[in-house]
Amino acid sequence: MEKVSYHGTNEYCPQPLYLYGTYKEDGKPNYGLFCWCAYCAVEAEKFVACIGQDKLTRDLIRKNGMFSATVVTEKLLTDADYCGTHPGYQFDKVDVLPSEKGEKLNVPVPIEAQYTLELKVEYTLHPNTDYDSDIYVCSIENVVADKRLIGDELTFEQKLELLRPVVTLEGKYVPIDPRSLGNWGAFQERE
Ligand SMILES: Cc1cc2nc3c(=O)[nH]c(=O)nc-3n(C[C@H](O)[C@H](O)[C@H](O)COP(=O)(O)O)c2cc1C
Repeated sequence: MEKVSYHGTNEYCPQPLYLYGTYKEDGKPNYGLFCWCAYCAVEAEKFVACIGQDKLTRDLIRKNGMFSATVVTEKLLTDADYCGTHPGYQFDKVDVLPSEKGEKLNVPVPIEAQYTLELKVEYTLHPNTDYDSDIYVCSIENVVADKRLIGDELTFEQKLELLRPVVTLEGKYVPIDPRSLGNWGAFQERE
């Protein structure tokens, strides 16, 4: 294999996709599509999200201190793409994803969603002096999940087949192969 150096970024680094849901001042939900995020463990598991520059989602997270993060699935992809390409400042996205209130926090949860985190912002980093971009470290207060994903009735592969999450690579939406390659620690025996 010949390697090259180039000024790319993360084209071949898979990124998860989430719909972040917030309530607007009039009580209507707003959703944006997001991929700059990660998990970290500091005492408990935390969700880390970056919102770059002016966005309605950023304004509402700053104001409310909470939001929902729904795993984007193939079923939700059309609506998710719409939410990621139509700024909430200009478009009322209330009818895109019919929603109900979260179980624990006052955040919108899409009725069609199969896996939604309810997130409370614990602290915010302001990475630039313009004060337009934020990094949120959030506690996961609750998860609202399709019951079939939680019980023992289905195998892991069957659950993933049911969920069909979508990731993003090189500006494209990509499905996840539902096969498991093995459990963590399964490859410790080396020849
Ligand atoms: C695939 C995809 C991923 C995105 N990820 C992010 C992200 O992680 N952070 C961000 O600030 N904007 C991201 N965006 C842009 C926002 O989704 C977009 O600006 C959207 O209009 C925000 O909605 P809002 O204006 O209602 O807040 C992404 C857009 C797409 C299409």
